[in-house]
Amino acid sequence: MTDVEWWRHAVIYQIYPRSFADGNGDGVGDLPGITARLDHLADLGVDALWLSPFYRSPMVDGGYDVADYRDVDPVFGTLQDFDDLLAAAHGKGLRVIVDIVPNHTSSEHPWFREGRRDRYLFADAPNAWQSLFGGPAWTQVEDGSWYLHLFDPAQPDLNWRSPEVRDEFEGILRFWLDRGVDGFRVDVAHGMIKTESGYFDQEEVHDIYRDWRKILDSYPGERMAVAEVFDTTPERVARYVAAGELHQAFNFDFLEAPWESATLRRIIDASIEAAGTVGAPPTWVLSNHDRQRHVTRFGDGVTGLRRARAAALLMLGLPGSAYVYQGEELGLPEVLDLPDEVRVDPQWIRSGGAVTGRDGCRVPLPWSGDAPPFGFGASSWLPMPADWAALTVQAQRADPDSMLNLYRRALHLRQPSGTLTWRPAPAGVLCFESGGLLVAVNLSSSPVPLPATPLLSSSPVNDTLPPDTTAWMPTPPSS
Ligand code: GLC
Repeated sequence: MTDVEWWRHAVIYQIYPRSFADGNGDGVGDLPGITARLDHLADLGVDALWLSPFYRSPMVDGGYDVADYRDVDPVFGTLQDFDDLLAAAHGKGLRVIVDIVPNHTSSEHPWFREGRRDRYLFADAPNAWQSLFGGPAWTQVEDGSWYLHLFDPAQPDLNWRSPEVRDEFEGILRFWLDRGVDGFRVDVAHGMIKTESGYFDQEEVHDIYRDWRKILDSYPGERMAVAEVFDTTPERVARYVAAGELHQAFNFDFLEAPWESATLRRIIDASIEAAGTVGAPPTWVLSNHDRQRHVTRFGDGVTGLRRARAAALLMLGLPGSAYVYQGEELGLPEVLDLPDEVRVDPQWIRSGGAVTGRDGCRVPLPWSGDAPPFGFGASSWLPMPADWAALTVQAQRADPDSMLNLYRRALHLRQPSGTLTWRPAPAGVLCFESGGLLVAVNLSSSPVPLPATPLLSSSPVNDTLPPDTTAWMPTPPSS
């Protein structure tokens, strides 16, 4: 597993451990559940897994509230289970990156419990900052002072000007690197430094990543890190992946793009250009554990699914690296009708139900069988829709036209690529060459001529490319 700069062209599959597979039958996914299902991922053809947090946590924010960064929460298993998962994944040629949550700890972290105020952001009086989960970003404690939490009050923000905080996180990186992880996904990577002018994307945050990069580079193999940086421009995001800092950053502009050709083309160009100015690979993502699933985002029923199939071949046809969120390879829709009483997302709870929150994209995966919980385990912590029987891995394996087989074929055909060349196309159609493929995406409402016979298409084609369809073709010999 030494191929040089593997991350430049990797397809990385995001696992939300709580909802992937339940090994011990308690209704919550866990690490042994993942290990038992690795063949699904190896067969799918992804290069690496990113595991959302599985550390000790009171689970106020689904594990993004960490109480012990060096241990596995009992609900997910043990450190031995993690080592077993890592070894099994590596044995199948799959790399593993883990989530690191440096902006805040859980309020159950020993530092917060022991009143180590120098390591958090306490003030005598709050300012006007609002929490991203709604309400004020400050909570008052017994002595009258206030602490900052950009997210839930159970997630106090750390003071990154404290040398102890910096040392601790370097130790945490080393702890997981020593165990053999291939890298990290950095949660809220633009948030750690706060100044008078704000809390996102402050200059000093880059010092942290220059230190972290040295640590990553001091390990054998190609250890990488991907930054979660949101609410800013591609140019600002690129600064996190400049020489001497991190390797990749998520592309939220692509994730948020409407199904519309001119906007997509503009975002694709801007993303490639911004990453290119610093020598980093562009990345692409359609869904994650925080956003409404794209099958639902792209339209109702048949339309949403058809566009999601076309979007998959667009994303996987682009140069650089792509992120696939668990369940998108099954075409899972957002679950919109979860009963109020099962919802646990702090966005929902803190807004008093005004914000629906993210539970609907975190419903456990359907693996097999005809009725919930569809082989996920003996039960599931969020209820699964009864009509997911046709969406199980088992059902889709048997269907050559399933979303699962589309992703599988695409991942096996996909070639590493660093460049994209646009080709002339009718209005509403994107056409480009990348990685030895000619990719045409019809976002218009009429069929258009096909330049060549497809190797793969997202919906059936005859001699035209129908609306909401992507085709992969061999590149013409003349080009
Ligand atoms: C990131 C995570 C999200 C979490 C938040 C606070 O945005 O992706 O799930 O709630 O950070 O840690």
